[in-house]
Amino acid sequence: MSKIKTFYQCQTCGYASPKWLGKCPDCNAWNSFVEEKESPAGRRGALQPSMRSGPVSLHAIEGISEKRISTGLKEFDRALGGGVVAGSVILVGGDPGIGKSTLLLQAFSGLSQRTGKLLYVSGEESPQQIKMRADRLSVNSENIILFPETSLEGILDTAAKISPDAMVVDSIQTVFTQELMSAPGSVSQVRECAAKLMLYAKRSHVPVFIVGHVTKEGTIAGPRVLEHIVDTVLYFEGDRGHSYRVLRTIKNRFGSTNEIGIFEMSDAGLREVDNPSELFLSERPQNVSGSTVVACLEGTRPLMVEVQALVSQTNFGMPRRTSIGVDFNRVNLLIAVLEKMAGLHLGGMDIFINIVGGLKIIEPAVDLGIIATIASSARERPVDPLTCVFGEVGLSGEIRAVAQAEARLKEAAKIGFRRAVVPAGNAGKIRPIPGLEIAGIKDCQEFLETVLK
Ligand code: TYD
Ligand code: MG
Repeated sequence: MSKIKTFYQCQTCGYASPKWLGKCPDCNAWNSFVEEKESPAGRRGALQPSMRSGPVSLHAIEGISEKRISTGLKEFDRALGGGVVAGSVILVGGDPGIGKSTLLLQAFSGLSQRTGKLLYVSGEESPQQIKMRADRLSVNSENIILFPETSLEGILDTAAKISPDAMVVDSIQTVFTQELMSAPGSVSQVRECAAKLMLYAKRSHVPVFIVGHVTKEGTIAGPRVLEHIVDTVLYFEGDRGHSYRVLRTIKNRFGSTNEIGIFEMSDAGLREVDNPSELFLSERPQNVSGSTVVACLEGTRPLMVEVQALVSQTNFGMPRRTSIGVDFNRVNLLIAVLEKMAGLHLGGMDIFINIVGGLKIIEPAVDLGIIATIASSARERPVDPLTCVFGEVGLSGEIRAVAQAEARLKEAAKIGFRRAVVPAGNAGKIRPIPGLEIAGIKDCQEFLETVLK
């Protein structure tokens, strides 16, 4: 009897080694190696999609006009770059229970009005369970075909028979191919199954949605390994305590990234939020210190968000610094700038920063908002409720211009703000906006004088 060959594979990045290793030399993960049996076809035999052709001149290639089908959910279409492209593979990742299955079922409901048969493959729920959810969402279409299956070969056979116009595989972690011996959910299975689904999508021009659960480390299981295979990566994020859900585009071969779609989870499924700025500002306290509104930009979409700060005398030796929704190091940097450049004494103060609504803001335009709220709370001077800010702060206390100032200001005027305090570099270039007074400032000191009451 021939000996079964095994190797060890890192479950985080897919690095393979003939020996067990405690630490992955590629991604530095600890204790991530699992023994896997080598497949008869060779470790990576079936991976290469047959999209090859001989060398061709760019000029000679006939362009295809990409047709996009709407999912009926505007926010979902926006995240996809304007709708579903035929033959694309879309990965929808997110924490378990965040609403991925709900989102896709609702999208299928919209798609079913524009296309023929749709195949919903579920390895996690029985058709009855999905039916119960569909009833709750008032989704009912004879074009949606439910198929409980976890074997990839079975899925592809059925897809070939039905020839659907779109397919969902919920979730990739439950699917396995018989060619590999390893358990479903392992890196090699996830990668191999995704590659085969990709091949199917490209050959048959059927868009395939793949649901992927995010592991506790925060990346899609078979983490990174899926992201480069698929065409589009969407993350469905949200706070358990909040009903908002943000669909974020991480990668998109057919559109821009950094787009977001915003939903609200209700008892009848996901509801699209047309005007997120109003939603995030709806419960804003008026005329209290420690609250500032920043005109942020998510992708191409301006979004008004409230930044809150609480600055209080520390009771222990070490002051506490906490930030939710913004980068902790960025906050520390801004605190240092405030101390040095604006003369605030924050050394003995606890400082807590929070972005309201469970949002995460990564762009530097939020800097001015953070500075304003901290100073507002420390000096107990409120920021005028009809004033908004945006701008980046440099280490020497200078205020730097940011991109797309006009879009931000238009949104501010639309929501009803009367004044915007912005970098001088931006203010000089903007055409006047009716109803909005624009104050351009150059440094921190001047900024605080302008913005605090
Ligand atoms: P689900 O789509 O099953 O999550 P996932 O597929 O990402 O694991 O969503 C489950 C959660 O959504 C569950 O906690 C209940 C909630 N939910 C609602 O609040 N309203 C609804 O109408 C539906 C269908 C689900
Ligand atoms: Mg699910």
